[in-house]
Amino acid sequence: MELALDDGETRVEARLMDGLDSAVFNRESLFLICTSTYGQGDVPDNARALYEDLQKQRPDLSGVRYGVFGLGDRTYAETFNFGGKRFDDLLTELGARRIGERYRHDASSGVLPEEKAVEWCREWLAAAREGNAAAV
Ligand SMILES: Cc1cc2nc3c(=O)[nH]c(=O)nc-3n(C[C@H](O)[C@H](O)[C@H](O)COP(=O)(O)O)c2cc1C
Repeated sequence: MELALDDGETRVEARLMDGLDSAVFNRESLFLICTSTYGQGDVPDNARALYEDLQKQRPDLSGVRYGVFGLGDRTYAETFNFGGKRFDDLLTELGARRIGERYRHDASSGVLPEEKAVEWCREWLAAAREGNAAAV
C-alpha cells in the first residue's frame, strides 16, 4: 500500500496499531484506519489499546480527517464490520471528519481485501485531495 500510493504529492506511512495510543493523532495528517472485527463485533486485540485510550482521553480531534477500511464477514450478520464502525463512531464523536464512505470488506464474498484496497484507497485519496483544494 505504501509503495502503491506514495508519490510526489503524498507520503504514506503504514503503522501497526500495536502499542499506539491517542497521541498518534497529534499531527497534521490524513489517517486511514484499517481494522478487522473479532469477538462479538469488537476491534481486534492489537487495536484495543488505541481504541480504549481514545475513549479514556477523549482528545479534541476536530483537526483530524480520516477514512475507514474495515474487514469483517457477513456471516456475523448482527455485528458485520463493527470493528470499523466502532472506530468511525468514536472518531466522529471526538470531532474528526470522515472522508468518503466506510469501506466494509466481506470475507465471505471470496474477494481478497488486497484486491480492492489499492483501487479504493486511490479514490479515497482523490476525495481527500479535492476536500483540501476546496478548503484553500
Ligand atoms: C473469532 C472471530 C470473530 C469474528 N467476529 C466478527 C464479527 O463480529 N463481525 C464481523 O464482521 N466479522 C467477524 N469476524 C471475521 C473477521 O473480521 C474477518 O475474517 C476478517 O477478514 C479478518 O481479518 P484479518 O485476517 O486481517 O484479521 C470474526 C472472525 C473470527 C475468527
